[in-house]
Amino acid sequence: MRLDDKVAVVTGSGRGLGRAYAEALAAAGASVVVNDIDADAAHEAVAAIAAAGGRAVAEAGAVGDAATADALVGRAVAEFGRLDVMCTNAGALRDRTLGKVTDEEFDLVVDSHVRGTFTCGRAAARRFREQGGGGRLILVGSPAGQYGGFGQTAYAASKAAVIAMVRVWSVELAKQDVTVNAIVPTALTRMAATIPSLTEVVAAVEGGAPVPAELRHRGIGTVRDVAPLLVFLSSDEASGVTGQYFGFGGDRFSIWGHPKETFVTRREGGWTADQLSADFAEFTPHFQSHLPPGR
Ligand SMILES: NC(=O)c1ccc[n+]([C@@H]2O[C@H](COP(=O)([O-])OP(=O)(O)OC[C@H]3O[C@@H](n4cnc5c(N)ncnc54)[C@H](O)[C@@H]3O)[C@@H](O)[C@H]2O)c1
Repeated sequence: MRLDDKVAVVTGSGRGLGRAYAEALAAAGASVVVNDIDADAAHEAVAAIAAAGGRAVAEAGAVGDAATADALVGRAVAEFGRLDVMCTNAGALRDRTLGKVTDEEFDLVVDSHVRGTFTCGRAAARRFREQGGGGRLILVGSPAGQYGGFGQTAYAASKAAVIAMVRVWSVELAKQDVTVNAIVPTALTRMAATIPSLTEVVAAVEGGAPVPAELRHRGIGTVRDVAPLLVFLSSDEASGVTGQYFGFGGDRFSIWGHPKETFVTRREGGWTADQLSADFAEFTPHFQSHLPPGR
């Protein structure tokens, strides 16, 4: 699949999944603005892309505030003349249970994922409108934003908010031919290494070992396994795909559902608290599990 003449920004693409996205876009012919809070990582990624024959520039900075978002879009336009794809991948993880999470940790996670997605999405949407001809917003969710993950107050809230932005923006931007989707990735990265059950396998895979087949089957592979979804969503072939969030990783592809009411009933005149109490036995069989699968 070719993306010649397309210009993309990928936030947090100095390492991990973001770097795999930037490399795959460049390998398909796109010009890429590589962003990361870690300037060295961003420059290393750009050097690797250039060495492989691709086009990329580094624009270091912490996503979150509007100035960084505007700088990223401005850099794409200044270097490559336009913007076609904004992938809001950057973000931090600080898992701690509710009683222990600090205000600083909460703010860091929310600023990078929620505000970073908002400001970069807004800057890109403004550019797409000015330019005409549509565009692609590709956001990044997480299974943690869909389930109640232990110790993930800030992260789960942030990723659920990102998915809410997919729903709102796909409706708002439809008339301008801007598609808005999210990747819900699973891959063995530095971030995944902070999950105790994955720490050892991340180290082994970094050392060159193949990902065990059982993990791939469950949807956990390398960062390179996830990149093809970003390339496809960036392409003209995906022009009709919007408002979706796709689980992708290892050997697995999935489509996440949108929230919906699972049970509705009515009572003329409404309920008192006592009447609710009396009726609740009829409602409880419709409760949904709040636990992640397998728990
Ligand atoms: N690895 C997984 O299995 C997994 C699962 C679900 C979701 N995700 C999501 O995928 C994305 C990438 O995750 P990863 O596993 O590659 O993580 P990672 O930690 O390996 O890479 C994240 C990159 O973002 C950069 N970054 C952090 N905060 C930033 C900021 N404010 N501005 C700019 N850059 C910043 C980091 O320096 C790093 O290079 C994240 O949004 C993450 O939540 C990952």
